[in-house]
Amino acid sequence: MDLIESLKWRASVRNYDTSKKIEEQDLEKLIEAGNLTATSMGLQPFKIVVLSNEELQKKLVPISYNQQQVAQASHILVFAVDTNINESAIDNYINRVIEVRGVTNDSLEGYKQSMTNYLTMMDEEAKITWATKQAYIALGTVMAAAADLKIDSCAMEGFDPIQYQELLELKDKNLLPVVILPVGYRSSEEKMADLPKVRKTRENFVLEIN
Ligand SMILES: Cc1cc2nc3c(=O)[nH]c(=O)nc-3n(C[C@H](O)[C@H](O)[C@H](O)COP(=O)(O)O)c2cc1C
Repeated sequence: MDLIESLKWRASVRNYDTSKKIEEQDLEKLIEAGNLTATSMGLQPFKIVVLSNEELQKKLVPISYNQQQVAQASHILVFAVDTNINESAIDNYINRVIEVRGVTNDSLEGYKQSMTNYLTMMDEEAKITWATKQAYIALGTVMAAAADLKIDSCAMEGFDPIQYQELLELKDKNLLPVVILPVGYRSSEEKMADLPKVRKTRENFVLEIN
């Protein structure tokens, strides 16, 4: 389907058909779309944590302001930022470039230095903010990919990141959830998704400067 048609079709779905599960190959496409997302300096300072366990998903409801979609959806994609972005993140990236492109370490020295300079300018809080921005770009890409596959989703900030971190045992892995994406298929109970989309008029959305 045409991208614009897919984006018109998509809506935040809060009621899911619990009997419908996303096929493995479609789930992989969503993950790949997230992984193909552009990020600042290519560092990808986040992971997508994939949940598909019904019992675990039920435990998410009370720490998600009682929003039921986290229990009903086929899978929950948790976008979790790296809380320990340091020299080793840069080294890992450089090693990956060498592996994928077959270039030398020396040829990347200048780029490595500029990445190091950029990261050292930020304190820990600024790094989390920077990493969160990157995770949101991936969120948008995955949402668009889901729409293209006619998979429903609902981006959610309405959850407690610290309680998610504890429940999913992410702290020791230096991961902090920042935004989540339940994905699945809408149920017949879903009424909101068919309402006309509310968006700014083009005049209010665009400022053209000639
Ligand atoms: C970053 C982000 C966080 C959101 N958090 C929630 C949420 O916690 N619960 C919810 O029901 N909807 C949430 N939404 C959905 C928005 O309310 C929805 O995208 C908006 O009203 C536009 O409607 P549409 O997505 O159906 O086009 C969130 C959307 C985004 C992009």
